[in-house]
Parts: sequence; C-alpha cells; structure tokens
Amino acid sequence: MVTYKVSVIPGDGIGPEVIAEGVKVIDAASEVYNFEVEWVYYPFGADHYLATGELLSEESLKELEKYKVIYMGAVGDPRVPPGILEKGILLNLRFYFDEYINLRPVQLFEGVPTPLAGKSPKDINFDVIRENTEDLYVGLGGRVKGKTKNELNLYRKIYNVKFGLDIESDLDEIAYQLMVVSKKGCERVVRYAFELAKKKGKTKVTSVDKANVLTYAYGLWREVVEKVKKDYPNIEVEYAYVDAAAMWFVKNPEAFQVVVTPNMFGDILTDLGAMIQGGLGMAAGANINPEGTSMFEPIHGSAPKYKGLNKANPIATILAGKLMLEFLGEEEAAKLVEKAVREVLKEGKVKPMDLGGLAKTFEVGDAIARKVKELNKGV
Ligand code: NAD
Ligand code: IPM
Ligand code: MN
Repeated sequence: MVTYKVSVIPGDGIGPEVIAEGVKVIDAASEVYNFEVEWVYYPFGADHYLATGELLSEESLKELEKYKVIYMGAVGDPRVPPGILEKGILLNLRFYFDEYINLRPVQLFEGVPTPLAGKSPKDINFDVIRENTEDLYVGLGGRVKGKTKNELNLYRKIYNVKFGLDIESDLDEIAYQLMVVSKKGCERVVRYAFELAKKKGKTKVTSVDKANVLTYAYGLWREVVEKVKKDYPNIEVEYAYVDAAAMWFVKNPEAFQVVVTPNMFGDILTDLGAMIQGGLGMAAGANINPEGTSMFEPIHGSAPKYKGLNKANPIATILAGKLMLEFLGEEEAAKLVEKAVREVLKEGKVKPMDLGGLAKTFEVGDAIARKVKELNKGV
C-alpha cells in the first residue's frame, strides 16, 4: 500500500477546525482507494509564536522541505500585529518553496446560492492562476524622513536582485513599496496557465493586468503572454484590465475559462471569485511548485470571530484537500471527494451556516466523509 507523508499546519482561528474535517474526508477517500496518509502536525501560528518567538525558522523550513505537500489551515490572529504571521509563515512558505503557481478554481456547485442573479453552476466554472512569488508581494520598501540610502535585496529561488536607492524627500515622511516582476517569473506562470487550458480542453486564456497604468511591470507581463501564446495556436488570448475584469466577474462570469494574473490582482479577484461561488467558505487554493514542496489551503483566512465555535464552513479546506490528492497523483480519490461535496450540497440536508444552513463544521465534514464511503468507487 502506498503511504503519503503529509505535513499539516492547522494554524490559527478556524484553521484547526476546518483542517480536522479535511483530514477526515481524505482519510475516508484513502480507505476507498487503498492508500494511506501519514499526517505530521506542525504548530506554526500565533500560539507557537507567542510562546516561543518562532515564526518559521530556517531549521523548520528545512524540515518541511522533506515533504511533497503541506496541508494548511490559515494564519492570522488579533493578538499579533497584522503582517507578522502572514509574512513570517504563509508568504515565507510560498517564497521559500518557490510555489509560483496559485491555482484557485472558481466553481459554483448545485445547491449553493450565488449573489449573482440569473447565474447557475454552468455559468460559474473557471480557474484563476495567480502568480505567487512576485509583484507587490516582494515586500521591498521603506519609510523615509528626509534623506536616506537604502539597500533592498530580493532573494528568490530563481534569482537575486539588489536595489541601491538614494532617496531625498522634502516632506516630513514618505513610504514606498516596490513592485517587481521578472521575465522568467512571468513566463513560468503564464505557461502553466496555457498548459492547464490545453489539458482541460479550454479554448481561451484571459490575462488580467493594469498595463495601461503600471506600464513597466505589466508591459513586461504582456510581452511574455504574447510570446508564450505563440506555442498554443489553438488557444485564444484575451486581455482585460483588472478593473474591468472585476466588473466581468460579476456581469458575465461565463466568459472566463482560465484567468492568469499577477499576485496582487490575483489575491483580490479570487476573494471576488469566492463570493460568486457561494462565499469564502467554498473557495480552495493550491500553491504549486511542480518540482518542489506544494501547499494546499482554503483561500480564506483565520476568521477569528468564528474561532472555536464550529460555525466555519470546512468545504474550502476539503476542496483544497481534493487539489492535494490530485497533485499526489490520486486522481480517482480526488474526483470522489469532489463528487461527495457536490452530492451533499445538492441534497441540502446538511448545510453549512454560511450557506444559510444549521450544520456545524464537524457535521459538514462527517456528512462528506460518509458520502465518500457511500459512493465508494462508483464515481
Ligand atoms: P477571513 O477570510 O479570515 O474572513 C473574512 C470573513 O469571511 C469572516 O469574518 C467570515 O465571515 C467569512 N469566512 C471566512 N472563512 C469562512 C469559513 N470557512 N466559513 C464561514 N465563513 C468564513 O479574512 P480577514 O478577516 O480579512 O482575515 C482574518 C485573518 O486571516 C487576518 O489575520 C488575515 O491576514 C488572515 N488571512 C490568512 C490567510 C491565510 O492564512 N491563507 C488568508 C487570508 C487572510
Ligand atoms: C491569501 C491571503 C494572503 C495573500 C495573505 C494572508 C498574506 O490573503 O492567501 O489570499 O495576500 O496572499
Ligand atoms: Mn487573499
């Protein structure tokens, strides 16, 4: 029997509650398909940080590097100032493991209400590929009073860049934040989007940017899209500026098949994408490095107000588990998990609270795990 060793970081807030349900459902699928998952838990998050001062040490990163996959809840806690846990743990993992693809499917399931009038599951079904290591997320910047010299270093798996900045301002204070994209960084994620479209038999890729204003960075992004598209003559390319794309997500979501977009816009658009598929409780994501350690998580955060209340919807995390099974090569088990989610939602007897139901977090997980066993291999 194959055994997969999976590292698990439940994290903060509702993270541990939703991860428990994901583990439950994957365990059920593993019984049906005769493989085993060995879950190895890591405590990274607010409690661990407050108790030990560790966010994620080099040693811990080396330890996690042994795994092919990480299953992640969420980080973020009101006791810790914004950005510390998010940058020190989540972004650190994405960058350290060079998980340059952030795949976030936008899919409305039957039985799930969407706020979009007149739209049904056939209209809302596309993939967003968010670049995951560059753009405004490089974390380079500073605050300046008067005159200063600043050296900023960008270390990435595939390159290093050094910026030496002489800054002189006659204001009391300015703050600046650099946005950086690389040709190589754009090309690998754009190519992934085209490959995904090809694999899924899709006919169009939509590239979303703001090349009309951010002309340097997204000028390069567009040049790369133009170059890569030559290798995919059967796939049409469409460009949209991010403001218009936000409008189209609401007005005509059926127009999208595969969307590829830089990091910051991908972050914002996928919360919007989550909303049209029924809310943050429904939206899953995969942080992929095809050759390295990849990480699977719901796209929502730690929703601190629901912590410990068993009110959170675990389906986003369960669907992230589905993406993880796919990544591990357990395609059939992945399909089974998705089918079980679909069936439970369609039946509507066990409905999470954010979808207007009464079911507690673990009741949703129980129902989906039960459905996995009931459906068995008949998917
Ligand atoms: P959030 O996604 O945590 O929650 C926003 C709101 O969405 C919640 O208040 C809740 O109403 C709803 N929601 C989210 N997930 C839900 C679920 N599973 N079931 C039901 N309702 C759900 O966003 P936020 O409040 O902006 O951020 C809270 C913390 O999480 C912050 O510290 C933030 O930085 C962090 N965060 C972490 C991640 C991550 O670890 N991947 C992602 C986003 C935000
Ligand atoms: C997400 C989150 C993260 C991001 C934060 C918590 C750093 O919002 O995964 O979408 O901005 O990428
Ligand atoms: Mn986000």
